[in-house]
Amino acid sequence: MRQLATSGYLGELFGLDGQVAVVTGGTGVLGGVMARGLARAGARVGILGRREQVARQVAAEIEEAGGEAMALPADVLQTGQLRAALDAVMERWDRVDILINAAGGNVPAATLAPGASLFDLPEGALREVFDLNLLGTILPTQVFGAAMVAAPEGSSGSIVNISSATAARAVSRVVGYSTAKSAVENFTRWLGVEFARQHGDKLRVNAIAPGWFITEQNEKILLQPDGSYTERAQTVVNLTPVARLGEPEELVGTVIWLCGQGARFVNGIVVPVDGGFGAWSGV
Ligand SMILES: NC(=O)c1ccc[n+]([C@@H]2O[C@H](COP(=O)([O-])OP(=O)(O)OC[C@H]3O[C@@H](n4cnc5c(N)ncnc54)[C@H](OP(=O)(O)O)[C@@H]3O)[C@@H](O)[C@H]2O)c1
Repeated sequence: MRQLATSGYLGELFGLDGQVAVVTGGTGVLGGVMARGLARAGARVGILGRREQVARQVAAEIEEAGGEAMALPADVLQTGQLRAALDAVMERWDRVDILINAAGGNVPAATLAPGASLFDLPEGALREVFDLNLLGTILPTQVFGAAMVAAPEGSSGSIVNISSATAARAVSRVVGYSTAKSAVENFTRWLGVEFARQHGDKLRVNAIAPGWFITEQNEKILLQPDGSYTERAQTVVNLTPVARLGEPEELVGTVIWLCGQGARFVNGIVVPVDGGFGAWSGV
């Protein structure tokens, strides 16, 4: 599996040999692809999610391909479960260098139905989507970040949060989700600054804002039963200069870059990976 350029000049910049990464949402589509990509760049990877069987499956696939991985069954909203996951990682690998906060997604009840207004949004669903995306980023950062800060002098850690193209520009109906992702971006800048002021370049914090990728959580919104685009997906494609949705693998290069030494002076930023969606006025 470690056939990427993990030696020589490219290895110095992008290789992750010897590093340990934890990917929350590693049981999902985007997190799973990122986890496999990190493993191919040399990292040992913990697959964190509530579905233990899926986490085991992803870890097994990585190991079958020659990498090293372990399942970390945990809910990102349960600090006790996150601590148990950290203990498991420390017991097996004795370090954490990388945290990818990919657990998250929309909550259908927090999405406005066509024709509905803000006044119709149920409070419980709003709390749920805020908790999952914002607290679900902050709590793992508290647990795994503390271990990264406590690492020996000379270590160099990286946290990558997963935001969304819906954070920077208004997207109809997804008010709770996009508000939560905006907060994730603010938290990314805040923590990047805070850690740098407290710990120098020991631990960097950045985010990726993906555009639209078809995954479990949005399949029904983007695809018709026959596999063709819904009207909403077609609108996204029309507003994306490259005129298509993203492929999950297209996130991997940015993840590896942000985690490697090539990005050691990159801190507190949000990188859009969206085919130009965020750059275009639509005109
Ligand atoms: N797909 C897109 O177009 C897109 C665009 C922009 C941003 N994103 C973001 O990318 C990230 C990954 O989403 P995805 O599209 O790959 O969706 P997905 O396939 O539905 O994956 C969602 C992941 O989140 C995990 N998760 C949900 N609740 C959790 C909890 N309480 N504790 C632990 N894990 C939890 C799920 O794992 P378990 O069910 O095993 O717990 C799953 O691994 C999300 O943050 C999403 O908002 C996606």
